[in-house]
Amino acid sequence: MLARRSGRSLFAVSSLALTLSLTACGGSSLSSGEGGGSGDGSVKIGLSVPLSGVYASLGEDMKQGFELYLEEHDSKLGGRTVEVVNADEGEKPDTGVPATTKLVTQDRVSAVVGLVNSATALGLRDSFEGAKVPLVVANAGADGLTTPTSDYIWRTAFTNGGVGEALGAEVAEEIGAGSVYLLGSDYAAGRESVGGFKKTFEAAGGDVAGETYTPFGTTSDFQPFLNKVRQSGAKAVYVFYAGAEAVNFVKQFDSFGLKDDVQLYGAGFLTEGGALAAQGAAAEGVKTSLHYSDLLENDTNAAFVEAYQEAYDEPPTVYAVQAYDAAAALDKAIEEADSTNGEDIAKALGDVGEIDSPRGPWSFNESHDPAQSYYLREVTSSGGTLGNAIISTLGE
Ligand code: BEZ
Repeated sequence: MLARRSGRSLFAVSSLALTLSLTACGGSSLSSGEGGGSGDGSVKIGLSVPLSGVYASLGEDMKQGFELYLEEHDSKLGGRTVEVVNADEGEKPDTGVPATTKLVTQDRVSAVVGLVNSATALGLRDSFEGAKVPLVVANAGADGLTTPTSDYIWRTAFTNGGVGEALGAEVAEEIGAGSVYLLGSDYAAGRESVGGFKKTFEAAGGDVAGETYTPFGTTSDFQPFLNKVRQSGAKAVYVFYAGAEAVNFVKQFDSFGLKDDVQLYGAGFLTEGGALAAQGAAAEGVKTSLHYSDLLENDTNAAFVEAYQEAYDEPPTVYAVQAYDAAAALDKAIEEADSTNGEDIAKALGDVGEIDSPRGPWSFNESHDPAQSYYLREVTSSGGTLGNAIISTLGE
């Protein structure tokens, strides 16, 4: 069995001074030199995910997904033995930017995988481009990461706007004449997710009852916001919350007494993995859009779920799949690249073709995001176990 929920590593913020001095000199904020391989056929990859803060459980799932891929491939990517250098992204850019920067400036990795928080990823984007080191974003969904497209930024996850957009027309049809209240964490992910939903919901004739953004990372009492929902008379709510915020929101939505009268919809992170386990029966009936559920029926997912369950004694999540797929994309790219230099690997990422993923086969689109399907999911209980049942396909 692989180490479950283990390996929490904390890096000092030691590269920040170097970063700032390079920026002040007019160069890029990261400087990698040759980086990567040690000349012995190995390759160094940085893994930067949150192992602390409200998104810690997401980061742990990503680490597990990445490590499972390596375990299944003899600890090699593209035929080269991998040395993984871990960093703790933490909760926000003040921790994530310096921890991730260090992977390039000091550890001299050939590529970095990870990043959960959109604000952190946006804070790093231009530095990776300047350093010519590929960043394979395995969660953060900020639209601006891949628009405009960069040769060095690739994403195996989703766009925040895309997940919300996928659900708008469906909700407009389901609730008919009623209105929807919109809520989300007050940063790029919450605003883009709600914005994407609102765009397609209103285009389909939907009526918005109100819109509120809650302070990210510091909101644990949602009662004032739930009160606004009740007073608005909305028939349904669409929200973006993930990790610890998702747990608190769904439990309080139930205990506040809204669950019986108001349908709760959200981006699928709301009821994913550890969040769903902690929410328990409070989550039953919540409907979400996402590009994965461990209950998705295809051969690759069946094998993945079995291996993940065997390794970690819990079902996999979308976060684990995105990191597993990041390893798969790098495997193909490093195989094809002329060297372990970041520039060569970035170039090869453009030619990896189809990834045979547990979410179904996908390829990078022109923006370097996955071209993929989104699903309508509903939390149901089967044999006493809660899961995100697939109700229908919402489209790409
Ligand atoms: C984001 O910041 O982009 C994000 C964080 C958690 C789940 C999904 C998206």
